Amino acid sequence: MFFTSRSSPTLLFALTFVWGLQAALGGVLHSKCPTDVEGISFGSCRSLRVQSRLPPMINPNPKKFESWKPPPAGWTYGNWKITHSSSQLYLTSFRNMQGDSAPVFPANASLPGQTNDVSSFQPPTSSMIITSYGISTPLRSLDKTLGSEWDGAFHFQGVGAMASTNNSWAILSWGYDKCGIPYFVAWESEIVTVGQPPALDIHVRSDEGPTEETMKEIIASLKALGNEAITDLAERTVPLVQDGERRGLPPVVCDAACQNNTVYSS
Ligand SMILES: *[C@@H]1O[C@H](CO)[C@@H](O)[C@H](O)[C@H]1NC(C)=O
Ligand SMILES: *[C@@H]1O[C@H](CO)[C@@H](O)[C@H](O)[C@H]1NC(C)=O
Ligand SMILES: *[C@@H]1O[C@H](CO)[C@@H](O)[C@H](O)[C@H]1NC(C)=O
Repeated sequence: MFFTSRSSPTLLFALTFVWGLQAALGGVLHSKCPTDVEGISFGSCRSLRVQSRLPPMINPNPKKFESWKPPPAGWTYGNWKITHSSSQLYLTSFRNMQGDSAPVFPANASLPGQTNDVSSFQPPTSSMIITSYGISTPLRSLDKTLGSEWDGAFHFQGVGAMASTNNSWAILSWGYDKCGIPYFVAWESEIVTVGQPPALDIHVRSDEGPTEETMKEIIASLKALGNEAITDLAERTVPLVQDGERRGLPPVVCDAACQNNTVYSS
């Protein structure tokens, strides 16, 4: 410390005042809402309750959820932190998992809505960022006979070295938590080639996850669907390791080698 007994009383007063002001403001501004989500738009409809549906692909009666609304076009683009999951693999072997989604450009006119999907994570004991890349295609683009209750449901196909990785996934819930931070819940089907069972993943714009209150509502809403498989996954959905090591780093840039899955680290 550079302060000595000769430090000017005025300086000390000024510092005390500043500390006092910070403490007072902290009392007002302090909340559990994260501050690391610059560049994203916060929701204005924070009191909306969580609404969930069953994945249309495991639901014998998808029409039952006809009133469920998918997110607006483009809402899922950009960078998400995967903060909770039922996947044992993600829980035990991945740190700081993220997903990045961008439209395929130029679009294939016969397959509208395709997205470039990059998943990335750090291993438990290394700062290396490992990526995997594939393309998600809306199931309604693959099968034009499907109705709107199939919106927000996709087929995922890995590319290049990941060509044997494929599954389907669907958005079950989406919205803004009590802090206005966007989130969505995704169900993904089994990935046969790597022996990964079906899983629930929670994608959030903040690495701190949805607020505790919203998290409880999400789990309750999923269980209220009354489907044994989804209830089981919801009960096993736990926080993943998000230790902040990727804060301040830009989202991964998926160049040609990343898109090939031949080079998968940076
Ligand atoms: C567009 O999709 C169709 C399948 O619907 C495929 O046969 C074709 O090769 C695709 N075109 C491009 C340019 O990828
Ligand atoms: C994944 O690909 C295999 C082989 O092409 C196919 O039999 C299977 O139905 C695909 N899985 C999904 C979920 O689409
Ligand atoms: C893509 O993968 C193929 C083999 O799978 C390889 O020959 C080629 O060099 C790769 N391209 C890039 C840009 O990494």
